[in-house]
Amino acid sequence: SLFTIHNTNTTIIYILFNMNALNEVIINKNTKINPIWIMRQAGRYLPDYIKLKNKYDFFTRCKTPELVSEITLLPIDQIGTDAAIIFSDILVVLQAMNIEVEMKPNFGPFIPNPIDSKEKVKNIITPNVTDKLGYVFEAIKVTKRDLNDRVPLIGFAGSPWTLFCYLVQGSGSKTFDKPKGFAFANPKETEIILEKITLTTIEYLKGQVDAGADVVQIFDSWGGLLSPSDYSEFSLKYINRIVSEIKNYAPVIIFGKGCWFALNEMAKTGASGLGIDWSCSARNARYLSGGNVTLQGNYDPAKLLSPISKIKSDVGQMINDFGKESYIVNLGHGILPNIPVSHAKAFVDAVKDYKSL
Ligand code: CP3
Repeated sequence: SLFTIHNTNTTIIYILFNMNALNEVIINKNTKINPIWIMRQAGRYLPDYIKLKNKYDFFTRCKTPELVSEITLLPIDQIGTDAAIIFSDILVVLQAMNIEVEMKPNFGPFIPNPIDSKEKVKNIITPNVTDKLGYVFEAIKVTKRDLNDRVPLIGFAGSPWTLFCYLVQGSGSKTFDKPKGFAFANPKETEIILEKITLTTIEYLKGQVDAGADVVQIFDSWGGLLSPSDYSEFSLKYINRIVSEIKNYAPVIIFGKGCWFALNEMAKTGASGLGIDWSCSARNARYLSGGNVTLQGNYDPAKLLSPISKIKSDVGQMINDFGKESYIVNLGHGILPNIPVSHAKAFVDAVKDYKSL
């Protein structure tokens, strides 16, 4: 295999490689358990995270390897997910590209000087990634040491389009009308920006894998705001380039929120896994993705507020629908801050307790 497998005690890596390897794991352990992790599992709803959040500001948490490791391990210890995801944020890449980004309490990301005119495009640099983001690589090394092969570690980056959304809008938004307007009015400048983010992201993800990330996920949180053809032009084109550069180093998962319409093209990128949100059924996701790629998802995060008995039966149904092969259990988007830890744990336990029908 072209990949370095940093640890072998889990199905999540095998499932992303191929089914034969997965079947070996099943036979050897004499059990069949779908792997599970939860998007945004490392923050938000965990009381021990909130304590650290009250003590250190957001980017201090991201830039201190010991804190990153501590936060990354919280959900492994407390709810028992089968993979860890490095504690960081997609927006650190914009900081590395010479864009100031603040995380304002009770507001979210804030970019004081967004790229809201053609003239500002020259402010964006393609950095030396080791100089600017070496702290993430260091954090991955420390976290791998502390994980001690208990579960694999997932690295991540935002898609170029999703980062462009924050870069132009200057904050979060439900519609991201400014970046969409900028892209349609200035397709050439938009291409220049997306190219720079793409090159930076390729180096960034390679660095994460070199530091020990076993899998990487690309978060395209705002791709679903685009029409299918605009999605191809402004988002998938760049994701495709990233995947083709990374897939020989580590398995790549693409999560495109609201991007069910692109599943067929995504499957052709060579990604090992595709994230699905709750607007797409398991059957449609299998059909659209062509049936040969691992799928991940897709429980509505808000449904974790259901009674625990309902969460358990929903998980059983979800595994029946997606199937036991080539399937990683997850939510359809990040876990919400108001989810009780007991409900998150019930979700994980339901996967482990699943009895095949
Ligand atoms: O499991 C994890 O939480 C791992 C770390 C992680 C964070 N952000 C930490 C974080 C990951 C994987 C992300 C990804 C991310 N960041 C995305 C893609 C996933 C998604 O949810 O769509 C996006 C769009 C961002 C940008 C971002 N960062 C926003 C919009 C916000 C504010 C709203 C929110 O999510 O709370 C953040 C802040 C942020 N990033 C927090 C955390 C734990 C909350 C702020 C804090 O804890 O101080």
